[in-house]
Amino acid sequence: MAAAFALGRLNHVAIAVPDIRAASETYRKLLGATISAIEDQPAHGVQTVFIELPNTKIELLGVLGDASPIRAFLEKSPAGGIHHVCYEVADIEAARDHLVAQGARVLGDGKPRIGAHGKPVLFLHPKDFCGTLVELEEA
Ligand code: CO
Repeated sequence: MAAAFALGRLNHVAIAVPDIRAASETYRKLLGATISAIEDQPAHGVQTVFIELPNTKIELLGVLGDASPIRAFLEKSPAGGIHHVCYEVADIEAARDHLVAQGARVLGDGKPRIGAHGKPVLFLHPKDFCGTLVELEEA
């Protein structure tokens, strides 16, 4: 019998922000964090800044383009806010099959795609997970 599915480590918390430059400076100056450069992610409609912490990462997400997936989020939360949490899984297709078999909804066409970190990811419907958008990343 296959081992029971289990979540892995927290990979990152993503925070949507209206001004990624200002948000980066807040993390750098006030919080003393080491931040990456701002990167455009045209395949995802966002700009990203990665912040490495000793035990996990924070990802700042800014709007890139009219079809940016965080535009609607920022309309509801203009000051920004936690957009999603990302958990690592050992096998993303096995995780998906396990979750779908129990009635959880996977966003999009259900096929893993390559996320901002170059690894396969899936997003799970927030209504099935305590009102939080959940990203799974194969680690
Ligand atoms: Co993410």
